[in-house]
Amino acid sequence: MSWIVTGGAGYIGAHVVHALLASDLEVVVVDDLSTGDARRIPAQVAIEQIDVCDLAAMDTVVARHRPVGVIHLAAHKDVAESVRQPMRYYRDNLDGLRSVLSAVVNNGVGHVLFSSSAAVYGTPDGDTPIPETAQTSPDNAYGRTKLVGEWLLRDTAASHGFRWAALRYFNVAGAAEPGLRDTGLTNLLPRLLLASRRGLPATVYGGDYPTRDGSAVRDYVHVGDVADAHVSAARALVDGVLHADVLNVGRGEGTTVLEMIDAVGRATGRELSYLVEPRRTGDPAHVVAGVDEISARLGWTARYGLDDIVVSAAADSTLATV
Ligand SMILES: NC(=O)c1ccc[n+]([C@@H]2O[C@H](COP(=O)([O-])OP(=O)(O)OC[C@H]3O[C@@H](n4cnc5c(N)ncnc54)[C@H](O)[C@@H]3O)[C@@H](O)[C@H]2O)c1
Repeated sequence: MSWIVTGGAGYIGAHVVHALLASDLEVVVVDDLSTGDARRIPAQVAIEQIDVCDLAAMDTVVARHRPVGVIHLAAHKDVAESVRQPMRYYRDNLDGLRSVLSAVVNNGVGHVLFSSSAAVYGTPDGDTPIPETAQTSPDNAYGRTKLVGEWLLRDTAASHGFRWAALRYFNVAGAAEPGLRDTGLTNLLPRLLLASRRGLPATVYGGDYPTRDGSAVRDYVHVGDVADAHVSAARALVDGVLHADVLNVGRGEGTTVLEMIDAVGRATGRELSYLVEPRRTGDPAHVVAGVDEISARLGWTARYGLDDIVVSAAADSTLATV
């Protein structure tokens, strides 16, 4: 039996597809290719090119493939865009999930894995790693769509009886192979690599945070590790080890923006200069995952370190789209 992966042609989704295949699981991709690229998907994998918000189309696809579960990654993910276009984010991210859950319920699918985000935590109280039990208080529309999504999932599962887990990814970066890299410019590392390639200074937003060098601290986790966490979680859902759970996916280690700039210099062999701009609204100082829960429940810990992440993202970065 197969797993349906929505957003499987996207950056993280394609890594999940490759990891599922490598674990001998069957996969069907559902993707409208709005930001995804079908070339990331191996030829043997069926792609259903539909909008997940289309209830009837989603229902038809799930009825046709009768999957063991759905891994739902398809969503908009740009925090700044969500602040400018909140209604689009609420509509698409939540209609997409509602449509997926409706198809799950109509067709008796037993397992759902949902892409959530560290954005659900907002600005943490302290600078210690954030456990899943920490208060959730998202700072922007994007994070709120993820938190409401978790609630929608929880409530629907409680009344319809399927098992679910939400994976709260921290800052996903790197690539398992150049063809799968993040071609968007939403996240820090692709932006730094583009600046490096163009010989321009990088922009650092905020140099006066209460951190070790004044720049913001984030938990960067290799996308290959994130993909492996999905395989472990999918198996744990089927085995009943997970049934209604929220897990952080991170390394449990923080990296400042300036440390990331140094790492880009090491990976490319070219020191990257930078300019410091004022902080952006809603950018917390320090966001690092507490990873005890995922380690205890799934036996998963990140294998790759910071330099592995940056070197893998820098490989063949001349091909990155702009
Ligand atoms: N990249 C990160 O650091 C990060 C961190 C936390 C959470 N996430 C979440 O992970 C998921 C995947 O992110 P990504 O970085 O791979 O983004 P991405 O844009 O590369 O992938 C999203 C995929 O979903 C598809 N898609 C979008 N809307 C769709 C729709 N309505 N119908 C069908 N397909 C649709 C796109 O074509 C694309 O292939 C998202 O839910 C995102 O919120 C990402």
